Amino acid sequence: MPDHPRAAAARQSPTAGRPAASTAAAGVLVILGASGDLTKRLLMPALYNLACDGLLPDDFAVVGMARGEMTTETFRTQQREEIARFQTRRSFDEERWRWLESRLHFSAGDFDDAAAFGRLRALVEEVGRGTAAADNTLLYLAISPAFFTVVNQQLARAGFTRLPGRKRIIVEKPFGKDLESARRLNESLLSLWAEDEIYRIDHYLGKETVQNLLAFRLANGMFAPLWNAGHIDHIQITATETVGVETRGEYYDKTGVVRDMLQNHLLQMLAYVCMEPPESLDPDVVRNAKARLLESVRLFGPEDVRRDCVRGQYGRGVRVDGSPAVGYREEPNVDPGSNTPTFAALRLHLDNPRWAGMPVYLRSGKSLWKRGTEIVVQFKGEDGEGANLLVFHIQPFQGVEIRMQAKRPGPAFELQRAGMRFDYAETFEASRGTGYEVLLYSALNGDPTLFSRTDFVESSWRIMQPVLDAWAATPADDFPNYTAGSWGPRAATALLDRDGRHWHECLSREVLTRSGFFANAPAVLLNTLMLAFRPLAVDSGATVVERGERSLDLFIVCRGELEAIGAEGERLGVVSAGECFGEMALLLNQPRSATVRAVVPCDLLVLEGDDFRRIIADFPEAEAKLRQIANGRSEASRPGKGS
Ligand code: BG6
Repeated sequence: MPDHPRAAAARQSPTAGRPAASTAAAGVLVILGASGDLTKRLLMPALYNLACDGLLPDDFAVVGMARGEMTTETFRTQQREEIARFQTRRSFDEERWRWLESRLHFSAGDFDDAAAFGRLRALVEEVGRGTAAADNTLLYLAISPAFFTVVNQQLARAGFTRLPGRKRIIVEKPFGKDLESARRLNESLLSLWAEDEIYRIDHYLGKETVQNLLAFRLANGMFAPLWNAGHIDHIQITATETVGVETRGEYYDKTGVVRDMLQNHLLQMLAYVCMEPPESLDPDVVRNAKARLLESVRLFGPEDVRRDCVRGQYGRGVRVDGSPAVGYREEPNVDPGSNTPTFAALRLHLDNPRWAGMPVYLRSGKSLWKRGTEIVVQFKGEDGEGANLLVFHIQPFQGVEIRMQAKRPGPAFELQRAGMRFDYAETFEASRGTGYEVLLYSALNGDPTLFSRTDFVESSWRIMQPVLDAWAATPADDFPNYTAGSWGPRAATALLDRDGRHWHECLSREVLTRSGFFANAPAVLLNTLMLAFRPLAVDSGATVVERGERSLDLFIVCRGELEAIGAEGERLGVVSAGECFGEMALLLNQPRSATVRAVVPCDLLVLEGDDFRRIIADFPEAEAKLRQIANGRSEASRPGKGS
């Protein structure tokens, strides 16, 4: 559906000619829970980055509050030690840090002690007195949600809700644990603060690449006419992590992947990608568009959850670095019989004119084979394999890519998949931030665009609630159902197979070179392979190639082990992680000389025969290496030589 003409006009105006960032508004930032992890890891490094970039005003102060004995002096010393560990810039600017340090203050006290909040208020007034900062107070709840209500009540009792000038309360996730608790939390906040004083953080909105989704939609008109179900086949939003739950077992076991990632981060990205283009960058216009999009998500019934939602939990496996990884149920502070999902894949439908009939697939999990957040927009094409893809690489690689077909150099008219890439690191000089810079900067300026409103939060819980309910009512009978370090449960692959689609696993050079096979491969070869390989997950006992067949695909083993079986059913050898098989048929021009069967569940990469032939012709060294392997195997498979 073409864009509304006003939206088209808005694409010019909202981004074009916007002024470069200037110093933020004067203000006092109060951090409740200032001795915790968030302050030292993210908030202080972000403030320091803003200070280095000249974006904090002179009339600026931080007032920390936490339990314990800390004083302003010891708070400053502590933060000075921590910033050396957690700052994100190439070098440390002592002068800028001193500038910031001199603005740090501290007031100790327990959250249930009303007098402590009286002292806090007195200190906030004292540091702001006689300056513009007195008119702008930010109250940052860097505390466990268990304390939200009591701290809010104490703040109100101490008069923070009646402060003169602007005041805002910044709330970190998790925002509730289900629809009901999120509603209660909203009610309790709204009884003390106005909606425009409540800033709910989702740190994904602080990521440059997530904000770029909005810029991309608004400022690049060439895609607008194609941005609908008439031209787009489907959209995949994936956020995978290689880490397990680490030290967060207690939190995570009560939370699970749906609450931890899908309800917030993935739905935020979905909203940016699929909302109607807002007519301006006015915060409420953008937030209205996002809220409307979430309202159009079709709610799952119990049968839909069974059909369209896949859950997983990791069992023992191998980490990326080759070391053994424990299963989720063996992690510290996790129930040994836990039913908590650490992986989920969902198929959603958006019931609105723009997207009617087009599925969106969401996927996230821990302890997987690759860390990466990507949004893949697959355009319609006659042949699924050759379809154009637009890929938003959110992290760790940051960029946007178009995958398309190109003519291969040479006299024959042959096509090959190619990629056009915009890489943040090659395009911008900006220092690496924490993602919190823009959130703090916006909060100081009173710009709520990047913060979630009540309606968005409640809609996002409404979407996920049926999934949470159905999974709580029927414990999984197959957990753990994926190996740590693998590509996740087989059922997630089947979810797309059923629709005649497959997940686009965005390979990176780092992931390919992890397999010893490509360790010293030239960059051009790696770039070509990144686009050409397809992932294939096979179950234990599954046959991947059959002796005598004339297929030409090459397989790389990422995880697991397979056995090669000869004519008499004898075992010719095993192929394990980092090795390849399937090369003999192509290089020695033979039918398959052995059947290859998975001994355990395996994750493979497949290079299809045609691509394999083309690529090998361009890279004689890779061919030589494969030929060596093939000759060795051919020798070994002769009668009497098999192992
Ligand atoms: C947090 C989750 O919100 O996001 C974590 O609680 C998760 O479990 C993290 O690891 C992922 O954030 P990022 O920025 O590393 O993608």
